[in-house]
Amino acid sequence: MAIIEAINIKHKYHDGTLALQGVKLCVYSGELLAVLGPNGSGKTTVLKHLIGLLKPSEGEVILEGKPLKKYPSKEVFQKVGMVFQDPNDQLFAPTVWEDVAYGPSNLGLEKDEVERRVEESLELTGMSHCAQKGVNALSFGQKKRVCIAGALAMKPEILLMDEPTCGLDPSGVNNLMSLLKELNNLRGLTIVMSTNCVDLVPVYMDRLAIMHQGAILKVGNPEEVFSEEDIIKQASLDLPQVAQLMHILRNKDNVPMDKLPLTVSQARDFLAQRITGNTSRLNVA
Ligand SMILES: Nc1ncnc2c1ncn2[C@@H]1O[C@H](COP(=O)(O)OP(=O)(O)O)[C@@H](O)[C@H]1O
Ligand SMILES: [Mg+2]
Repeated sequence: MAIIEAINIKHKYHDGTLALQGVKLCVYSGELLAVLGPNGSGKTTVLKHLIGLLKPSEGEVILEGKPLKKYPSKEVFQKVGMVFQDPNDQLFAPTVWEDVAYGPSNLGLEKDEVERRVEESLELTGMSHCAQKGVNALSFGQKKRVCIAGALAMKPEILLMDEPTCGLDPSGVNNLMSLLKELNNLRGLTIVMSTNCVDLVPVYMDRLAIMHQGAILKVGNPEEVFSEEDIIKQASLDLPQVAQLMHILRNKDNVPMDKLPLTVSQARDFLAQRITGNTSRLNVA
């Protein structure tokens, strides 16, 4: 079922830039959806429309069956949370605790409930030990986690993440993506994540939408979308690295393959079977 949907939204910024040229995007309840596109393709602009920070020049956003513009913004912010690309644009309170408490306090919740939410959100994001720390004393990765904690403290149904892995080191990327997966599994949180990192998508995401020049070129699961080589090229993207290797083996070295392995795990299964004839690991994630 669609939890939130963009119906042919167009957006023109004040300087005349037509950033969205009629975006159609349906987000299903409980899914992990990537909006994948190069810089400037309109990812941030789309996410800001899904939480009502930007209004479409044409078209509309439907949240749980009702036009977003009909909701009071307080209600939207309870249903939809957004984590910005740069945590420094989001954090503003002196300490971690105060920052995470800001949203729920503004909802007018009881002090106990605010405390419960802050504790729980810091726990979920692994940041409890930094509760009293100044936000300026945090590492970049820790700041990102505090931003996620702040969004979770609002108990949203949908979490929008704008390029969440940008600026993180490799272990930071894996930790953050595992956290998103866990939040999705544990809480059934619907997550829409913008990214230009193709490698992450088949490992962590259920579906992806390819964006290019303010339009969505294709939406589907990773197998469906990454089999459309022309669309990937048109969007100035590459296949995931593993898939590039497997693609060369298939197309240049004539190694027969029914479908292109997209992840290390899928490629390992395929190659192990070819080399050893052993199928014992097949279909193991
Ligand atoms: N505040 C703004 N004013 C004018 N143009 C903007 C503004 N923000 C973004 N744009 C333009 O809109 C287009 C899409 O930008 P954006 O949504 O930030 O893309 P992405 O997030 O994919 O990098 C780009 O051409 C960008 O220059
Ligand atoms: Mg962006």
